[in-house]
Order: sequence, then C-alpha cells, then structure tokens
Amino acid sequence: MNNASPSFSELINRRNELLAPCFAQDWPNVPTERAEGVYLYDNDGKRYLDFLSGFGACNLGHNHPVVLNAAREQMERMVHAPIGVSTPESALRLAWELGKIAPGEIDMFFFGNSGGEAIDGAVKLARYVTGRPGIIAFIGGFHGRTMGATALTTSKAIYRTGHRPLLPEIYFARFPYLFRSSKKTPKECIQESLEEIDYIFEYLISPKEVAAILVEPVQGEGGYVIPPFGFLPAIQEICNQHGILLILDEVQTGFGRTGEIFAADTFNIIPDILCLAKGIANGFPLGAIAAPKELMIKWGGTSHGTTFGGNPISCAAALATIEVLQNGDILKNSRQHGEFLLNRLRRLKGKCAIVGDVRGIGLMVAVEFIQPGTSNKPNPEAVKRILQYALEAGLILYPCGHWSQTIRLIPPLIITNEQLEEGLTIFEQAVLRV
Ligand SMILES: Cc1ncc(COP(=O)(O)O)c(C=O)c1O
Repeated sequence: MNNASPSFSELINRRNELLAPCFAQDWPNVPTERAEGVYLYDNDGKRYLDFLSGFGACNLGHNHPVVLNAAREQMERMVHAPIGVSTPESALRLAWELGKIAPGEIDMFFFGNSGGEAIDGAVKLARYVTGRPGIIAFIGGFHGRTMGATALTTSKAIYRTGHRPLLPEIYFARFPYLFRSSKKTPKECIQESLEEIDYIFEYLISPKEVAAILVEPVQGEGGYVIPPFGFLPAIQEICNQHGILLILDEVQTGFGRTGEIFAADTFNIIPDILCLAKGIANGFPLGAIAAPKELMIKWGGTSHGTTFGGNPISCAAALATIEVLQNGDILKNSRQHGEFLLNRLRRLKGKCAIVGDVRGIGLMVAVEFIQPGTSNKPNPEAVKRILQYALEAGLILYPCGHWSQTIRLIPPLIITNEQLEEGLTIFEQAVLRV
C-alpha cells in the first residue's frame, strides 16, 4: 500500500470518500488554494470573484491585512486561553469595544465559536432568566445546525428531517414576505404575521409562558426576505407588552452588511439579546451572545460555558475588524454599492421574464427567479443554470430561499466599482443566457 501523502488534486478526487456528504455535496466546492480580498484562487490558479464572502463571514474581504496582522500578533503571544481559567486581554477589550457599538444598553457578552452556538446560548439565557419555556420564531427562518438552532429553523424542512425529536415549546408565526404573500400592502402583510402571534397566544401558549421571540432582521438563508419597515418595531412592542425578550439573530446581517454596523440600527429597534457571528471576526471563528448587564448578570455560576469560545486570536481579529469597519468608507460602500446593484438588477428585471423580484438593503441583495408568465412560481432550475454559468465565468454565487429559487449577491463590502461591475456583468450575462 502506498502511504505517500496524496497531492491536493488527488485528495479533491477523493472528496466524497473523505468528507461527510453534507459537506462534499454542497455547492460549488471550489478546490480553493488561497484567498485574498474579493478573490479565491483554485488549485489550477483560476481566479474567482467571491460574491458570497465566505458565507457572509468575510465582510472586509479575505485575508484583510489589518485583521491578519492583529491575529498574527496575538498568535505569537497566546493561541488558547479558555475564558474562566484565563481572562485573555483580547476578549475583555472586545467586550469593551462591542459595548460601545451595540444597540441600546447592550454591554455584556458571552463569546462562543459560531452562530448556531450563539442561538442555542441565547435561548438558554432567555429561558433561564425568565423562567418561561416558550420561544416564538418565524417560518422561513434559519438559525443554524446545532440541535437547538435546528429546532428553530424552518427555511427548509430537510434541515429538520431525520433529526427529531427537536426542542419542545417552540412556536412559529409567518414572516412578512410581501412577494409571496396573498396580502397586497406592506401593512396588511405585517398585520397577517401579528395576527398569527395573537393566535399563538390565544390558542397555544399564554404570553406569560413565552420567554422570547427570535427573529432575523432580514431572513437570510430563507431567501433574503426583507420585512416591511414597521414589522420589527411591532414585534418589539409585543415583547415589551408581555415581558418577553426579543432575540435578534444578526449572525448574517451584522457588521456592515445592511449598511449600518447592525441591522438593529437600520430598522430602529433595540433587542434584549443580540446574537452575532460570521462577520464579527472577518473569517476567524467567533460568536457572541450580547445583552444588557441587568439581564446577563442573572445567568450566573456555571450555567453556561465553553472551551474554545472567545479564542484570543479570534477576539484580536474581531477588534481589528471593528476598527476597520468604523474608520473609512466601508459602511458607505455597503450602502452605495447596494444601491448601484439594486438599480442595475431592477433594469435586468425589466428585460427578463424569469426575474420575479429584486430586493436588498445595504450590500445584502438578492434576485428571486420565477417561471416565465407566472406571478411568483419558483424557478430553481433557472437558478441552477445561472449558478453554473457564473461559476464557469469565474463568479461564485450561492442560492437561498425555500426552493433555492433566489440568488444572493453579497460581495465583500470592500469591493471596488470595477470589481462590482465585473461580477455584475457576469451575473447579467448568465441570467440573459438562461
Ligand atoms: C441568520 C443566521 N443565524 C445563524 C446561523 C448559523 O451560523 P453558524 O453557521 O456559524 O453556526 C446562520 C448561518 O448561516 C445564519 O445565517
């Protein structure tokens, strides 16, 4: 038997034997050798424009030099320092800095490793401090793959299939999705969702037994569904009225994606608990549960914990990420590039019967595809072909939505006009070809 270590190309060919199918059969599985800025490079040296930003984690682009330097400097000093046994400076400093930019009174933090973990922890926190069991989430939401987050996720039934029994005492209401609603106006669409929450309170669980309402400010995996503006403040009002905690899942929307550091600012709401991950450390694994001191302080003793969470290198990377986000034109870029994309894509809609809807906020933009001649019959086949054409032309895109009928366009926020034009042109050509 030949025990020599195989080359990268040989390993790629054996991907299906080495990686679990849920990894190996995902899209597009580029054999990436390195990444820089808005580009990925494969093992043949082919360059790809990354309009997915590493699943939305690299808002500042891959290997941002300021973030890398901060991480490198921290790595030389200390790689691992579990919080509790140690108190690493970078975690403390990160809590200090996050407290300055977080919405409302949020000033206390638990650090984990990922978004799903942050969601699980937030639910534990809400149940612990309220002594109530119920959680209300929204149809079409995506909150991660851990057991708790899976129980709260309904963007596709497949994420739940085979994993039951899931967490009990979770109830779902409709998310206002104007393009797919039978209601004609944003106001009616909001009202429909609020009535479902009333219905849950009336028939299924008293609001006195509900610990939290969990919501993504913009549904991500569920299809880049932007709720009409009055929706989130109305949810906050319901929470205030019944002593229910509002958990905002900003795992995908946070750190500049919607044009402000947090979507809470974009939508003018103040959550009780904020869940963060992805863009927080620009590619280094880190998640956070954030809440005001008066709430978090009640989560005492060893009621929650972690070995790797708040890793010193990830925290140093997060500090650098926040510094870069705050100084310079990143947020302005997010808004301006988002507007530019939306305008161009709306023109494409005018020319193309398969483009059903174009929507976006900041640089969180999506195009929903439909069967020609219908008002909104999903067209995932067209999406597959567009993704393939774009990939061949060197553009990485990723679908979302219940039927995978929508394509999200989320390039790094540092993208230049020329790079944006390059990616957009490939996308337009792919759509027109299909
Ligand atoms: C809104 C939202 N919440 C939670 C998660 C889960 O994050 P992670 O994959 O880091 O566990 C995701 C991941 O896509 C997400 O988009």
